[in-house]
Amino acid sequence: MRRIIYQSRAGSELDRAELFRLLYQARVANEERGLTGVLLHSQGRFLQVLEGRTWKLFAAFEKIRQDPRHHEVEVLFERSIPEATFPAWPMRYFDDHDVGKMLNCMTSAAGGALPRAIEEALCEFLAQGSTAPQPFSPLPLVAAPPSSPRPC
Ligand SMILES: Cc1cc2nc3c(=O)[nH]c(=O)nc-3n(C[C@H](O)[C@H](O)[C@H](O)COP(=O)(O)O)c2cc1C
Repeated sequence: MRRIIYQSRAGSELDRAELFRLLYQARVANEERGLTGVLLHSQGRFLQVLEGRTWKLFAAFEKIRQDPRHHEVEVLFERSIPEATFPAWPMRYFDDHDVGKMLNCMTSAAGGALPRAIEEALCEFLAQGSTAPQPFSPLPLVAAPPSSPRPC
């Protein structure tokens, strides 16, 4: 089992309809190959966490890397892992309209805590997109307390 995390810049021709078409096809293909993960979209940029068996993962990533619908693909992490972080997600999608909900969903899907590499990539990714004048202060990357469960 292996994990690749990369970020990229969305192509200008990639509109919402095309993005959801891409997602649908990615989920079908990922289910067939046993790949799982998340795709985040914020201000014209993607962050994807893709996990699965090594050769299936590499084969899928080679196609993704060459996909003209995005560019400036930068691998942030590529290493073997003991188990999938989001085993039930063939490719969950989040945009940045509700970052709190996104973090809660990801954290609870990961069993209560995100692996450090994902947490760091996420913080970096969200910080890059932040338009706030003050420096980015990392959000608490913890699951919602049991007394206030939030539906994902
Ligand atoms: C940002 C982004 C993320 C993608 N994620 C996946 C993915 O998780 N799984 C997948 O099979 N294809 C994904 N794709 C699509 C692939 O790049 C490619 O179109 C797909 O593997 C089909 O290739 P093929 O028609 O040559 O088989 C993604 C594309 C982009 C631009």
